Amino acid sequence: MQIDRAGSDGPVLWVTGAGSGIGRAVAVRAAARGSRVVLSGRRPAAVTGTGELIARAGGRSLVLPLDTTDPAAIEAAHETVTATWGAVTELVLAAGLNTPERYWRDQSLERFEDIVATNLTAVVRVVDAVLPDMREAGSGNIVVVSSYSAWRFTPHAGVAYSASKSALAAVCRTLNEQEAGHGIRSCHLCPGDVDTDFLRLRPRAPDEAARAGMLSPDDVASAVLYVLQVPAHVRIDELVISPMSQT
Ligand SMILES: NC(=O)c1ccc[n+]([C@@H]2O[C@H](COP(=O)([O-])OP(=O)(O)OC[C@H]3O[C@@H](n4cnc5c(N)ncnc54)[C@H](OP(=O)(O)O)[C@@H]3O)[C@@H](O)[C@H]2O)c1
Repeated sequence: MQIDRAGSDGPVLWVTGAGSGIGRAVAVRAAARGSRVVLSGRRPAAVTGTGELIARAGGRSLVLPLDTTDPAAIEAAHETVTATWGAVTELVLAAGLNTPERYWRDQSLERFEDIVATNLTAVVRVVDAVLPDMREAGSGNIVVVSSYSAWRFTPHAGVAYSASKSALAAVCRTLNEQEAGHGIRSCHLCPGDVDTDFLRLRPRAPDEAARAGMLSPDDVASAVLYVLQVPAHVRIDELVISPMSQT
Protein backbone atom coordinates (compact mmCIF):
# COMPACT_ATOMS: atom_id res chain seq x y z
CA MET A 1 0.00 0.00 0.00
CA GLN A 2 1.36 3.39 -0.99
CA ILE A 3 -0.03 6.43 0.81
CA ASP A 4 0.72 10.07 0.30
CA ARG A 5 -0.51 11.73 3.48
CA ALA A 6 0.45 15.27 2.51
CA GLY A 7 -2.47 17.57 3.23
CA SER A 8 -5.98 16.54 4.26
CA ASP A 9 -8.33 18.74 2.24
CA GLY A 10 -9.92 18.05 -1.14
CA PRO A 11 -12.66 15.58 -2.04
CA VAL A 12 -11.97 11.89 -1.55
CA LEU A 13 -12.47 10.14 -4.91
CA TRP A 14 -12.32 6.35 -5.26
CA VAL A 15 -11.53 5.16 -8.80
CA THR A 16 -11.83 1.51 -9.84
CA GLY A 17 -10.03 0.36 -12.97
CA ALA A 18 -7.46 3.01 -12.02
CA GLY A 19 -4.45 1.17 -13.41
CA SER A 20 -5.10 1.89 -17.06
CA GLY A 21 -7.22 3.59 -19.71
CA ILE A 22 -10.15 5.74 -18.63
CA GLY A 23 -9.72 5.04 -14.90
CA ARG A 24 -6.07 6.10 -14.95
CA ALA A 25 -6.83 9.26 -16.96
CA VAL A 26 -9.62 10.23 -14.54
CA ALA A 27 -7.40 9.60 -11.52
CA VAL A 28 -4.53 11.71 -12.87
CA ARG A 29 -6.83 14.58 -13.87
CA ALA A 30 -8.75 14.51 -10.58
CA ALA A 31 -5.56 14.51 -8.52
CA ALA A 32 -4.35 17.51 -10.51
CA ARG A 33 -7.50 19.43 -9.52
CA GLY A 34 -6.81 18.65 -5.83
CA SER A 35 -8.75 15.46 -5.12
CA ARG A 36 -7.33 12.79 -2.87
CA VAL A 37 -7.62 9.78 -5.12
CA VAL A 38 -7.95 6.14 -4.10
CA LEU A 39 -6.65 3.85 -6.85
CA SER A 40 -8.02 0.33 -7.21
CA GLY A 41 -7.57 -2.40 -9.81
CA ARG A 42 -6.34 -5.98 -9.77
CA ARG A 43 -2.75 -5.48 -11.04
CA PRO A 44 -0.67 -3.90 -8.26
CA ALA A 45 1.99 -2.69 -10.72
CA ALA A 46 -0.61 -0.91 -12.86
CA VAL A 47 -2.27 0.97 -10.01
CA THR A 48 1.11 1.77 -8.49
CA GLY A 49 2.10 3.21 -11.89
CA THR A 50 -0.90 5.54 -11.76
CA GLY A 51 0.06 6.51 -8.20
CA GLU A 52 3.55 7.36 -9.39
CA LEU A 53 2.19 9.56 -12.18
CA ILE A 54 0.07 11.40 -9.63
CA ALA A 55 2.95 11.79 -7.18
CA ARG A 56 5.26 13.16 -9.90
CA ALA A 57 2.66 15.85 -10.62
CA GLY A 58 2.41 16.73 -6.91
CA GLY A 59 -0.95 15.01 -6.30
CA ARG A 60 -2.16 12.68 -3.56
CA SER A 61 -3.16 9.05 -3.95
CA LEU A 62 -3.80 5.94 -1.95
CA VAL A 63 -2.96 2.77 -3.87
CA LEU A 64 -5.26 -0.12 -2.92
CA PRO A 65 -4.99 -2.97 -5.43
CA LEU A 66 -8.06 -5.23 -5.33
CA ASP A 67 -10.51 -7.27 -7.32
CA THR A 68 -13.86 -5.47 -7.25
CA THR A 69 -15.66 -8.83 -7.36
CA ASP A 70 -14.17 -9.74 -3.95
CA PRO A 71 -16.54 -8.53 -1.19
CA ALA A 72 -13.96 -8.83 1.60
CA ALA A 73 -11.43 -6.81 -0.40
CA ILE A 74 -13.94 -4.01 -0.98
CA GLU A 75 -14.85 -3.92 2.70
CA ALA A 76 -11.20 -3.87 3.79
CA ALA A 77 -10.29 -1.16 1.27
CA HIS A 78 -13.22 0.98 2.33
CA GLU A 79 -12.12 0.71 5.97
CA THR A 80 -8.58 1.74 4.99
CA VAL A 81 -9.82 4.74 3.00
CA THR A 82 -12.06 6.05 5.77
CA ALA A 83 -9.35 5.53 8.39
CA THR A 84 -6.86 7.40 6.20
CA TRP A 85 -8.86 10.19 4.63
CA GLY A 86 -12.43 9.99 5.95
CA ALA A 87 -15.63 9.72 3.93
CA VAL A 88 -15.58 8.89 0.24
CA THR A 89 -17.77 11.48 -1.49
CA GLU A 90 -16.86 10.80 -5.13
CA LEU A 91 -16.75 7.51 -6.96
CA VAL A 92 -15.74 6.68 -10.52
CA LEU A 93 -16.42 3.06 -11.44
CA ALA A 94 -14.32 2.25 -14.48
CA ALA A 95 -13.40 -1.41 -13.84
CA GLY A 96 -14.93 -3.44 -16.65
CA LEU A 97 -14.66 -6.70 -18.52
CA ASN A 98 -15.59 -8.15 -21.90
CA THR A 99 -14.54 -11.23 -23.88
CA PRO A 100 -13.77 -12.00 -27.52
CA GLU A 101 -16.30 -14.88 -27.21
CA ARG A 102 -19.35 -12.66 -27.09
CA TYR A 103 -21.99 -14.33 -29.24
CA TRP A 104 -24.58 -16.98 -28.42
CA ARG A 105 -22.63 -19.29 -30.71
CA ASP A 106 -19.37 -19.08 -28.74
CA GLN A 107 -20.00 -17.64 -25.26
CA SER A 108 -19.63 -19.71 -22.09
CA LEU A 109 -21.89 -19.27 -19.09
CA GLU A 110 -18.83 -19.14 -16.82
CA ARG A 111 -17.44 -16.14 -18.70
CA PHE A 112 -20.92 -14.58 -18.81
CA GLU A 113 -21.01 -14.72 -15.01
CA ASP A 114 -17.53 -13.17 -14.74
CA ILE A 115 -18.60 -10.26 -16.92
CA VAL A 116 -21.85 -9.66 -15.04
CA ALA A 117 -19.96 -9.96 -11.73
CA THR A 118 -17.47 -7.28 -12.82
CA ASN A 119 -19.65 -4.91 -14.82
CA LEU A 120 -22.79 -5.04 -12.69
CA THR A 121 -22.60 -6.75 -9.30
CA ALA A 122 -19.21 -5.25 -8.39
CA VAL A 123 -20.44 -1.77 -9.31
CA VAL A 124 -23.38 -2.22 -6.95
CA ARG A 125 -21.05 -3.60 -4.28
CA VAL A 126 -18.70 -0.60 -4.31
CA VAL A 127 -21.61 1.85 -4.35
CA ASP A 128 -23.14 -0.04 -1.43
CA ALA A 129 -19.87 0.29 0.51
CA VAL A 130 -19.68 4.07 0.16
CA LEU A 131 -23.37 5.05 0.36
CA PRO A 132 -23.41 5.29 4.18
CA ASP A 133 -20.43 7.73 4.00
CA MET A 134 -22.18 9.79 1.36
CA ARG A 135 -25.48 9.86 3.26
CA GLU A 136 -23.69 11.02 6.39
CA ALA A 137 -21.77 13.68 4.45
CA GLY A 138 -25.00 14.73 2.67
CA SER A 139 -23.02 14.63 -0.57
CA GLY A 140 -22.09 12.03 -3.15
CA ASN A 141 -21.21 12.08 -6.83
CA ILE A 142 -21.01 8.70 -8.56
CA VAL A 143 -19.92 8.25 -12.16
CA VAL A 144 -20.64 4.80 -13.55
CA VAL A 145 -18.55 4.18 -16.66
CA SER A 146 -21.02 2.20 -18.71
CA SER A 147 -21.00 2.05 -22.51
CA TYR A 148 -22.48 3.41 -25.70
CA SER A 149 -23.90 -0.11 -26.06
CA ALA A 150 -26.00 0.53 -22.94
CA TRP A 151 -27.49 3.63 -24.57
CA ARG A 152 -28.05 2.29 -28.06
CA PHE A 153 -28.04 -1.37 -29.01
CA THR A 154 -24.64 -2.29 -30.48
CA PRO A 155 -24.75 -5.67 -32.24
CA HIS A 156 -21.14 -6.77 -31.63
CA ALA A 157 -20.67 -5.61 -28.03
CA GLY A 158 -21.55 -9.05 -26.71
CA VAL A 159 -24.42 -10.74 -24.89
CA ALA A 160 -22.96 -10.45 -21.38
CA TYR A 161 -21.43 -7.02 -21.96
CA SER A 162 -24.60 -5.49 -23.44
CA ALA A 163 -26.79 -7.02 -20.74
CA SER A 164 -24.56 -5.99 -17.84
CA LYS A 165 -23.87 -2.46 -19.09
CA SER A 166 -27.56 -1.86 -19.94
CA ALA A 167 -28.46 -2.78 -16.37
CA LEU A 168 -26.24 0.05 -15.13
CA ALA A 169 -28.81 2.54 -16.42
CA ALA A 170 -31.26 1.13 -13.89
CA VAL A 171 -28.60 1.19 -11.17
CA CYS A 172 -28.09 4.92 -11.78
CA ARG A 173 -31.78 5.72 -12.10
CA THR A 174 -32.66 3.98 -8.85
CA LEU A 175 -29.80 5.74 -7.07
CA ASN A 176 -30.97 9.10 -8.35
CA GLU A 177 -34.57 8.37 -7.46
CA GLN A 178 -33.88 7.07 -3.96
CA GLU A 179 -30.79 8.93 -2.75
CA ALA A 180 -31.26 12.50 -4.02
CA GLY A 181 -32.63 13.45 -0.59
CA HIS A 182 -29.17 12.71 0.81
CA GLY A 183 -27.39 14.88 -1.75
CA ILE A 184 -26.29 11.84 -3.77
CA ARG A 185 -26.34 11.81 -7.58
CA SER A 186 -25.10 9.41 -10.19
CA CYS A 187 -24.28 9.61 -13.88
CA HIS A 188 -24.69 6.79 -16.37
CA LEU A 189 -21.71 7.61 -18.59
CA CYS A 190 -21.84 5.99 -22.02
CA PRO A 191 -18.61 6.27 -24.02
CA GLY A 192 -18.33 5.08 -27.59
CA ASP A 193 -15.07 3.61 -28.86
CA VAL A 194 -12.04 4.58 -26.76
CA ASP A 195 -8.47 3.73 -27.69
CA THR A 196 -7.43 1.66 -24.65
CA ASP A 197 -6.24 -1.85 -23.76
CA PHE A 198 -9.92 -2.84 -23.65
CA LEU A 199 -9.82 -3.21 -27.44
CA ARG A 200 -7.71 -6.36 -27.02
CA LEU A 201 -10.91 -8.05 -25.83
CA ARG A 202 -12.57 -7.65 -29.23
CA PRO A 203 -12.77 -10.69 -31.54
CA ARG A 204 -10.58 -8.71 -33.96
CA ALA A 205 -8.40 -5.92 -32.63
CA PRO A 206 -8.87 -2.66 -34.57
CA ASP A 207 -5.92 -1.43 -36.63
CA GLU A 208 -3.98 1.78 -36.04
CA ALA A 209 -6.12 3.79 -38.46
CA ALA A 210 -9.32 2.78 -36.65
CA ARG A 211 -7.78 3.53 -33.25
CA ALA A 212 -6.72 6.97 -34.43
CA GLY A 213 -10.37 7.91 -34.99
CA MET A 214 -11.48 6.85 -31.51
CA LEU A 215 -11.81 8.84 -28.31
CA SER A 216 -8.75 9.00 -26.08
CA PRO A 217 -8.96 8.09 -22.38
CA ASP A 218 -8.35 11.77 -21.71
CA ASP A 219 -11.42 12.75 -23.78
CA VAL A 220 -13.56 10.60 -21.51
CA ALA A 221 -11.76 11.84 -18.39
CA SER A 222 -12.70 15.41 -19.39
CA ALA A 223 -16.37 14.39 -19.43
CA VAL A 224 -16.03 12.64 -16.07
CA LEU A 225 -14.33 15.67 -14.52
CA TYR A 226 -17.14 17.86 -15.85
CA VAL A 227 -19.71 15.63 -14.13
CA LEU A 228 -17.73 15.70 -10.88
CA GLN A 229 -17.39 19.49 -10.96
CA VAL A 230 -20.96 20.64 -11.58
CA PRO A 231 -22.62 22.47 -8.67
CA ALA A 232 -24.29 20.36 -5.96
CA HIS A 233 -27.80 21.13 -7.24
CA VAL A 234 -27.00 19.84 -10.76
CA ARG A 235 -27.22 16.21 -11.81
CA ILE A 236 -26.03 14.80 -15.14
CA ASP A 237 -28.25 11.71 -15.27
CA GLU A 238 -26.77 10.27 -18.43
CA LEU A 239 -23.96 11.35 -20.71
CA VAL A 240 -23.13 9.86 -24.10
CA ILE A 241 -19.73 10.69 -25.57
CA SER A 242 -18.62 9.23 -28.86
CA PRO A 243 -16.06 9.82 -31.60
CA MET A 244 -17.33 11.31 -34.83
CA SER A 245 -16.63 7.92 -36.45
CA GLN A 246 -19.10 6.08 -34.17
CA THR A 247 -21.82 4.23 -36.04
N1 LIG B 1 -12.44 1.20 -24.55
C1 LIG B 1 -13.66 1.33 -25.01
O1 LIG B 1 -13.91 1.39 -26.24
C2 LIG B 1 -14.80 1.48 -24.04
C3 LIG B 1 -16.03 1.94 -24.55
C4 LIG B 1 -17.10 2.08 -23.68
C5 LIG B 1 -16.97 1.76 -22.34
N2 LIG B 1 -15.76 1.30 -21.88
C6 LIG B 1 -15.69 0.98 -20.45
O2 LIG B 1 -14.70 1.78 -19.87
C7 LIG B 1 -14.23 1.15 -18.68
C8 LIG B 1 -12.73 1.28 -18.63
O3 LIG B 1 -12.17 0.56 -19.72
P1 LIG B 1 -10.95 1.10 -20.57
O4 LIG B 1 -11.43 1.31 -21.94
O5 LIG B 1 -10.29 2.21 -19.84
O6 LIG B 1 -10.03 -0.21 -20.64
P2 LIG B 1 -8.91 -0.76 -19.68
O7 LIG B 1 -7.72 0.11 -19.74
O8 LIG B 1 -8.75 -2.19 -20.04
O9 LIG B 1 -9.56 -0.60 -18.24
C9 LIG B 1 -10.31 -1.58 -17.59
C10 LIG B 1 -9.81 -1.60 -16.17
O10 LIG B 1 -10.66 -2.43 -15.36
C11 LIG B 1 -9.82 -3.10 -14.44
N3 LIG B 1 -10.54 -4.29 -13.98
C12 LIG B 1 -11.09 -5.27 -14.73
N4 LIG B 1 -11.64 -6.18 -13.94
C13 LIG B 1 -11.45 -5.76 -12.66
C14 LIG B 1 -11.79 -6.28 -11.40
N5 LIG B 1 -12.47 -7.44 -11.27
N6 LIG B 1 -11.42 -5.59 -10.29
C15 LIG B 1 -10.74 -4.44 -10.40
N7 LIG B 1 -10.40 -3.89 -11.56
C16 LIG B 1 -10.74 -4.56 -12.68
C17 LIG B 1 -8.55 -3.42 -15.24
O11 LIG B 1 -7.42 -3.57 -14.43
P3 LIG B 1 -6.92 -4.98 -13.86
O12 LIG B 1 -6.91 -5.92 -15.03
O13 LIG B 1 -5.57 -4.67 -13.30
O14 LIG B 1 -7.89 -5.34 -12.80
C18 LIG B 1 -8.40 -2.17 -16.08
O15 LIG B 1 -7.57 -1.21 -15.42
C19 LIG B 1 -14.74 -0.29 -18.73
O16 LIG B 1 -15.79 -0.43 -17.81
C20 LIG B 1 -15.26 -0.45 -20.15
O17 LIG B 1 -16.35 -1.33 -20.20
C21 LIG B 1 -14.68 1.15 -22.69
